[in-house]
Amino acid sequence: TRVAILFGGRSAEHDVSRASAANIFRSLDASRYAITLIGITSDGRWVLADAANDGTATALTVPADGPQIVLLPAGQGRALVIGDGTAGTRDLVFDVVFPVLHGPNGEDGTVQGALELADVAYVGGRVLGSAAAMDKDVAKRLLRDAGLPIVPFVTMTEAAPVTYQDAVHAVGSSELFVKPANLGSSVGISKARNEAEFDAACRLALRFDRKILIERCITPVREIECAVLEHADGKVAASELGEIVPADSHGFYSYEAKYTDASGASLHVPAQLEPALSERIRKLATEVFGVLCCESLARVDFFVRGDEVYVNEVNTLPGFTNISMYPKMWEATGLPQPALMDRLIAHALA
Ligand code: DAL
Ligand code: MG
Repeated sequence: TRVAILFGGRSAEHDVSRASAANIFRSLDASRYAITLIGITSDGRWVLADAANDGTATALTVPADGPQIVLLPAGQGRALVIGDGTAGTRDLVFDVVFPVLHGPNGEDGTVQGALELADVAYVGGRVLGSAAAMDKDVAKRLLRDAGLPIVPFVTMTEAAPVTYQDAVHAVGSSELFVKPANLGSSVGISKARNEAEFDAACRLALRFDRKILIERCITPVREIECAVLEHADGKVAASELGEIVPADSHGFYSYEAKYTDASGASLHVPAQLEPALSERIRKLATEVFGVLCCESLARVDFFVRGDEVYVNEVNTLPGFTNISMYPKMWEATGLPQPALMDRLIAHALA
């Protein structure tokens, strides 16, 4: 099976994607898959990246210049082409594309739409589920409409600002989380406990997105995650749960606690929870997957306080880095990463 791995990309999670892709590259069984690496530069160019990578580094490299790739629409019998598509350029033909991209322009339905037009099979959810899960405001409205538990929130834009007092009133707490609506890996997220912190938090989040979310901060809270996998026959399975315990110095599972500070958080898989509560969360994870029109895979993240459970967010292309929970949770459920890769590719080709 000929597989193209897409990685890098235009979002603020470019570097996380490079680390996820390195891990996926290593865990694909080389006797079954012929792999081509395609890097996407931070400004959005698709570049052949095979020569720049030998698979030993913890993150794949996106070469600054290299043979450019263009996506050709279906009907021409050529999925991806090196060069500009004119005579004399070389065709690259794949059975399946694995977009290992996080955040906007990769995990949000845009690349998925391009791959639909090119008529190539690809791993992961399609346009609607990717877009619905990426926008935290839209995702929360759909979940609320389905009667699933979410943390109270309001949204704001630069054109329609919300004051600290209004936000406190709307969500029922003076301690708030402020986040960009469309990013991942906790980029641009901060806590606010007063007006000055709130203004700074909004300014930061607005650097990353036109729309931001202000949520009630639930404390003390446990961060519990569940990996959901749809099999090629359409059956949806939920993994053992995992728990993330951020170090006190970080306060929450921030970008730094995730990726730059090796002791920023400890990960526990499986999470220590009452069996009945675990079961409730796993069932909720598959419901969330359905409500947001997800397909193939997603990691559903929860906040848990006592026996209260809230859906925090959904990642349709969750991290696959060395510290990432999605592959760890499947490993703990009896599905090692190479077998997980086989399932994901089988789903894409079904
Ligand atoms: N958005 C990052 C990659 C994650 O959720 O794992
Ligand atoms: Mg995320």
